[in-house]
Amino acid sequence: MPEVDESENGRFYEDVPFRSELFHVKGAESYDWGMKNRLARIFRPSDGRTVMLAIDHGYFQGPVRGLERVDLNIVPLLQSTDALMLTRGILRTTVPPEIQAPIVLRVSGGSSILKELSDEDIVVSIEDAIKLNVAAIAVQVYVGAEYESKTILNMTKLVDAGLKAGIPVLGVTAVGREMVRDARYFRLACRICAELGAQMIKTYYIPDGFGTVVASTPVPLIVAGGKKVDETEALRIVEVALQEGAAGVDMGRNVFQSEKPLTMLTALNHVVHDGWTAQEAIEMFNTTDEATVRLQVNSKKKSVEFSRQ
Ligand code: R5P
Repeated sequence: MPEVDESENGRFYEDVPFRSELFHVKGAESYDWGMKNRLARIFRPSDGRTVMLAIDHGYFQGPVRGLERVDLNIVPLLQSTDALMLTRGILRTTVPPEIQAPIVLRVSGGSSILKELSDEDIVVSIEDAIKLNVAAIAVQVYVGAEYESKTILNMTKLVDAGLKAGIPVLGVTAVGREMVRDARYFRLACRICAELGAQMIKTYYIPDGFGTVVASTPVPLIVAGGKKVDETEALRIVEVALQEGAAGVDMGRNVFQSEKPLTMLTALNHVVHDGWTAQEAIEMFNTTDEATVRLQVNSKKKSVEFSRQ
């Protein structure tokens, strides 16, 4: 019979109170452990922010510029992102399973740029998302569009499934071509997503009133990149979005369509996580070549691997 392994002189530290800290993700205090653990993989505990790389464009646009060869163009970027947003097709075929970055899986779809975009459905089962060991699932929500209600209900079904599995839902506020992109619209769209259970929201930065969107949404807002603009403009938008309360970025084209994608991703990391100003990051971007950044990232990776051995 095994002995009872307890001693009168054990280390009980009776005078030290049990550790109790607030969780670093907005609105997440009451979530279950599994969901918090997944959110903590996406949002760094040190600052509550994320740099997410979005490469899911092909699910309705096909091979956009920069994503023609994910194996060649994107895989070399993966160690510099906090999370990767993509479809299960690209994940299974092209992304090495050794990836450390958590996966945010696109689970809505069914439309293409040739037709009405808001006519989406849920295209991945929660069982498959669990099997792929994802950290979150992402769904498009088209407030004000033709299939508004269908896309909102897609989201609520995923929230129910996600709550059972401990997987958070990223609601993506998609703006129809005819919609006005102002603070009033984004307050409405983001609040609907949060009220109906999304644990985080991807939305657009707007220069006028973004802070009111943040204030009226009780979950983290991650800023979408949008179409490719000059790196200076993109980094300045990120800087002000963070100042106004964004919890990070989920950027695609402004990274992978840049002439120097890894340098751009590194610049973004400095602004989001290291307190760099956009100006400092732009100077670094303009004065550093891609090969040098690649060397720096690879040597950092090697030293991490060495310290794990
Ligand atoms: C939303 O429609 C999808 O998630 C996009 O593929 C993604 O948001 C696009 O990212 P970006 O606008 O930064 O290229």
